[in-house]
Amino acid sequence: MANTSAEAFAPATVANLGVGFDILGLALQEPGDTVRAERRTEPGAVIARIEGDGGRLPLDPTKNTACVAARETLKLLGAAQGVALTIHKDLPLASGLGSSAASAVAAAVAVNALFGSPLTCEELLPACIEGEAAVSGYHADNVAPCLFGGVVLVAGTTAEQIFRLPIPDRLHLALVTPDVAVPTAMARAVLPKTVELHDMVLQTAAVARLLNALHRGDVADMAAAMELDTVIEPARAHLMPLLPEIRAAAKQAGALGVVISGAGPTLCAVCDSQPTAQAVAGVMEYIYRNAGIPATARQTRISAEGARVLRVD
Ligand code: HSE
Repeated sequence: MANTSAEAFAPATVANLGVGFDILGLALQEPGDTVRAERRTEPGAVIARIEGDGGRLPLDPTKNTACVAARETLKLLGAAQGVALTIHKDLPLASGLGSSAASAVAAAVAVNALFGSPLTCEELLPACIEGEAAVSGYHADNVAPCLFGGVVLVAGTTAEQIFRLPIPDRLHLALVTPDVAVPTAMARAVLPKTVELHDMVLQTAAVARLLNALHRGDVADMAAAMELDTVIEPARAHLMPLLPEIRAAAKQAGALGVVISGAGPTLCAVCDSQPTAQAVAGVMEYIYRNAGIPATARQTRISAEGARVLRVD
């Protein structure tokens, strides 16, 4: 008998890793979004309910990232029937944690599972990118790690251009999200249109150093390389409240480096142990709260797995 519903989880992601603007990203173990897809006889994708977004996400199927990804997945499946989606948002919106990518990926994985999971992650990638593009443009540095898991190099938007990188054993992350919305479009609008040759050389060297550190499992050098961004962070820093103060305090507490997560305002601290990450998360949250800015901090690790099916009924 055909399945009637399927539910999938897709994790938060940290895009860019500092120096790797639009080409590097990693998947976190938590938090993430959950999408349930229920079979309906009418074709296409509609939204049954959205929970946890405070009423801020569009219900219009053409503007909702999960709905667009579900619709594209149905096309890939050649399905005559459609789906109704229930989206549970655990990720804050416009926070630099890949919220729109997580909803798109969870929807695509849930719809695929509903129809017996005939498509591979590689085959689902275009549907997820299409969903993400409905809200934040054609880039895969959130979608790809979310779908495949781990640390990924995103050299383009097709599956052949996505490369899994090693995950250092000792890598622990502390993240802090101040209660300030920084929409991706706004954070992209402040970027320079051209880059000096000198900066291009520095940025390229920093990315190469980061890849080398990942392959050697050297968390300290990884963190140092991530912080060498001379192009993106200087242009966006004014959108991230207390960035210098958070960086200084996190390092004082043992962090090896702090970068903007994706387009921000979440900040990501690289640490080499769980107790350090725990302490750094606490210190970063304290700095914001002490300045009157509500903030949520967490410590987590990389998810090697990425999105996953939770249940099929
Ligand atoms: N690479 C993107 C950016 C990630 O920094 O603008 C945001 O979705």
